[in-house]
Amino acid sequence: MKKIAIVTRDCAGVNAVIRSVVRTACNYNIEVVGVLKGFAGLIDGKFIPLNRSSVSGIINLGGTILKTARSHRFLLESEQKKAVKTIKKHNIDGLIVIGGDGSLRGGHVLSSKYNILVIGIPATIDNDVNGVDLTIGADTAVNVALDALDKIRDTATSLERIFVVEVMGHECGYIALQVALAGGCEEVLIPEKDFDIDRMCEEIKIGRSKGKESWIIIVAEGKARGHDIANIITEKTGLETRVAVLGHIQRGGHPTSIDRIMAARLGNYAVNVLRDGITDHCVSLKNGNPVTVPLEFAVQPKKTDADTYYKLIKILT
Ligand code: F6P
Repeated sequence: MKKIAIVTRDCAGVNAVIRSVVRTACNYNIEVVGVLKGFAGLIDGKFIPLNRSSVSGIINLGGTILKTARSHRFLLESEQKKAVKTIKKHNIDGLIVIGGDGSLRGGHVLSSKYNILVIGIPATIDNDVNGVDLTIGADTAVNVALDALDKIRDTATSLERIFVVEVMGHECGYIALQVALAGGCEEVLIPEKDFDIDRMCEEIKIGRSKGKESWIIIVAEGKARGHDIANIITEKTGLETRVAVLGHIQRGGHPTSIDRIMAARLGNYAVNVLRDGITDHCVSLKNGNPVTVPLEFAVQPKKTDADTYYKLIKILT
C-alpha cells in the first residue's frame, strides 16, 4: 500500500482521528491525502497532502480540518463512477472514511460495488452505528449537553420552573437518553419510542400539588420541537415552561479524553487493517479491544435500549 485518502464528516474527535491515521501511515511510509469537503471532494478530486507536521496541533480541535458537506451527488451512480475514476487517477490504494451512517454507507458503496479498499471509522454524535458500542464524538456531545443542562438546572431550581431542553438526534435518541439519566431529568422523549404527553402533564400537576418544584424534560429534536412540547405543558398544566434548544454546540468543541483516546486507537487500527487488505468494514472497540465490523451490518438501523433507560429514570426521579 503506497497511498491512502481520508474522507471526513465533522464532530469532536475527527481531527484526532486524522492525526492518528496520518502519523500511523507515515510510519509505514504510506503517502496520505485528505479529501476536502467529504464525498463531493472525492468526486471532484479535491485533495490536500497530509504529513506528520500538517496534523500537528489538531488533537484538541473540534470539527474537521478537511471541511465537509452533505453530498447528495454521491447518491447518483454517475457521480459514484466519477469518484472511482478520481481514486484510480490519483493512484489511491485505500480509503479511510470517518463519519456516521451516511458516510459509512458511501464507503460501503465504493467497496462493495466498485472494489475500492475502504475502512470506516465511526464518528457521529448520534452513536447510531450498528454493532458499534460507541462512536467517536458521542461522548463529547453528551458532556457538552450535560454541562448546559447543569446550568439550566440552576435556574429551574431557583425559580421552581419547568424546562424543556431540546437536544440533537433526528432519528436517534442516544444523546437524549444519556443526558436525561446523567442529568437527573424527569422525562425524556425520543424518536424511537411512543410518548404519552397527557400522562406526563397529569404527573406534573399531581407532583406540583404535592410540592414538587421543578422539572427538566429532555426532547430529542427528531421526536418533537422543544417549543411545541413546552406549549402543550403550559396549556395542560397552566404552569410556566421555558425552553432551551442546545443545537450544534453538541457537535463541536474540544473532544473529551474518551473521544481522543478512541480516535488515536481506531485511527491506528484502521491503517493496520487496511494494510492487511481488509475492506468494506469499519473499526470499533469491543471490550476494550479493536475489532472490525462489516459495513453492511454497521449501516443497518441500530436498536436502542430505551426501555432500560426509561425504567431507571422513573425509579431515580
Ligand atoms: O447526524 C449528526 C447530526 O448532528 C444529528 O444529531 C442532527 O440531527 C443532524 O446531524 C443535523 O444535521 P445538519 O448539521 O446537517 O443540520
